[in-house]
Amino acid sequence: MINLDIKDTLNFITQSEINSYRDKVKECNNSLYNKTGKGKEFLGWLDLPSRVTKDEFKKITECGNTMADASEIIVVIGIGGSYLGARAVIDGLSGSFANLKAAEKGKPLILYAGQNIGEDYHSDLLKILDDYDYSIIVISKSGTTTEPAIAFRLLKNQLEKKYAKEFVQKRIITITDRSKGALKKLSDAEGYETFVIPDDVGGRYSVLTPVGLLPIVAAGFDISKLVNGAKEMENLCREEQILDENPADLYAAVRNILYNKGKAIEMLAGYTPSMNYFIEWWKQLFGESEGKNGKGIFPAGVNFTTDLHSMGQLIQDGTRDIFETVISVEKVKTELSVPAEDSNLDELNFLAGKSLSEINKMAELGTRKAHVEGGVPNISISIPALDEYSIGCLIYFFEKACAVSGYLLGVNPFDQPGVEKYKKNMFELLGKPGY
Ligand code: PA5
Repeated sequence: MINLDIKDTLNFITQSEINSYRDKVKECNNSLYNKTGKGKEFLGWLDLPSRVTKDEFKKITECGNTMADASEIIVVIGIGGSYLGARAVIDGLSGSFANLKAAEKGKPLILYAGQNIGEDYHSDLLKILDDYDYSIIVISKSGTTTEPAIAFRLLKNQLEKKYAKEFVQKRIITITDRSKGALKKLSDAEGYETFVIPDDVGGRYSVLTPVGLLPIVAAGFDISKLVNGAKEMENLCREEQILDENPADLYAAVRNILYNKGKAIEMLAGYTPSMNYFIEWWKQLFGESEGKNGKGIFPAGVNFTTDLHSMGQLIQDGTRDIFETVISVEKVKTELSVPAEDSNLDELNFLAGKSLSEINKMAELGTRKAHVEGGVPNISISIPALDEYSIGCLIYFFEKACAVSGYLLGVNPFDQPGVEKYKKNMFELLGKPGY
């Protein structure tokens, strides 16, 4: 379960301002649960955790395990909502150097492609893959997105040179729309195993569908715990929960009040590098959902204490348009303390015997105090541990908060019309037929 603490925003906003949001938040919830608001055709994520069936779980788990058993490397191809959720969870659970030890543990190494068009990135990847037994999970809801389509064509081409046709087919799983798009057509023609992204779930809300669950299971993690965490939050964040007891609604209300007081940038901070891709997922969720019609809080991400030595000055002392949301992990997985040294030449004996997480915690508390005193309101979110259950809680918490926050802002949190503009220009420049 997560714990949301807003007390360090209360120098900047008042409890009565929060109370004044009760009716507005209620209205947003009515629109969500009665499916009457903007983007109402994309609300399938709202009860996804409690809706996923045992059979779906079983199919995803069996398929992911079979692929993992046959592969030294699995390449997840997708962009935006079609890969960030899986990467956030896999990186969050794996530990920073897990890839170096994956083979030893009998797990496949998980790599990503199709999230950029870097020529060197993809050439380097192809060279690496040449030496390993690998499989591909290709994810695209529309089935027409250029970046993953290019990566898939490159990797499929290489697989076809490496293995006989019947083995190539076994090494590719696609996840796409049930009926439309080029990827669906290709999958049917080639006979690839295919999972469906539900029509009513948009890309950035899709991590708890096969889009996230299949790569996560293939990476060796327990998707039932992940979904249970999300289910717990689904219950806690229901519409009938009053504002103060509904963390997602409260977070949405507080960030909107701060925004209306000129805090136009939200920095999501983690205190472990394992959270970096979770922050990337969050940035996409909120950026693509809220940034429209000339509105939206700019979602930025920082990794502390690393970024205290690069961004710390600006946060402490720059333009006062920032608020900070910090995710703390209460219990780390390992134990490591600073050793004592007789010579104490590095003058570090005052830390001898202290664990790194204790020191990290003091860095967090000291930073929060400094930033709040410097005019940066602080929202604190803590989870007991960086495990499947807690990450599941966080995912649902942020999805629900994002939907309510978008409605409070008056935008449709489920579309992304702005993303089409660059594509149109790019296709014109590349001479795509019809552009
Ligand atoms: O959230 C979204 O809808 C987007 O970020 C998409 O996930 C992203 O553009 C990829 O689209 P697709 O899955 O259609 O390839």
